[in-house]
Parts: sequence; structure tokens; C-alpha cells
Amino acid sequence: MAKFEWDDSVALGIQTIDDQHKALFGWVNSLNEAVKRGDGAEAVGEIIWKLISYVTEHFSEEERLMLACHFPGLVSHRKEHDLFVARLKDIQSSYNDGHEMSENVLDFLVDWLVCHIKGTDQSYSRFIHQQESAA
Ligand SMILES: [Fe+2]
Repeated sequence: MAKFEWDDSVALGIQTIDDQHKALFGWVNSLNEAVKRGDGAEAVGEIIWKLISYVTEHFSEEERLMLACHFPGLVSHRKEHDLFVARLKDIQSSYNDGHEMSENVLDFLVDWLVCHIKGTDQSYSRFIHQQESAA
């Protein structure tokens, strides 16, 4: 997996959320580097744990934001979040059971985040910006 480089195509224009997305990609890049370096299971496991904690906190923040502005797509958005967290926990269990972290898994993490931000997150961001400009 190539290192993910942040660019404006994934920017939402909501500072706190953009900062959190940058940090999320930072964790995925750290995970990728640790796996490539052949760091031990303890170090890699720690990064997976931190990634899951950060993702969970970040998703809660987005959901609070969507709730606060009465975004109509909250329920389906939350479902996508829940599925991703479940997938991350499966990845964690599989790694803890001794399976290697494959390139496919690392690619999946980046692809999912980029796709989710550009599609699902963009829709609540547009909604918030429209509300702001109508106010
Ligand atoms: Fe989201």
C-alpha cells in the first residue's frame, strides 16, 4: 500500500472533522509502516487498538454533529460507521489469532476511508454548508 497523502479532494471544509480525518489516515499510515517494517505483534496490535479507539471517537463526533443539525441521513450514515467498526474488530481478532496483516486489508482501510469521506461524509458536509449559507 502506498502511503496515503492528504489532499483537498478529501477535505470537507469543516476544520475539526478534516483534522480528525487527517489523524485517521495518520494511524492507517502508521499501521502500514509498522507492518512493512516487520514490527512485532505487540507494536502492531497497539496501533490497531489505537486506530479502533480513534475511529470510534471520531464517528461519535460526526454523529453528534449530524444530530445537532438534524441531518436526515444520520441513520444510514451510522450504519456505515457501525459496519466499518465491526470490520476493524474482525481484522483485530484475526491479527490477534496470528494471521498476517495483508496488503489487501491495508488497502481496504484506505479505500473505505477515501470512499466514505468523498461520498457519505460529503453529503452531511454539503447539508451543513447549505444550512450555514441559508442562515
Ligand atoms: Fe462518516
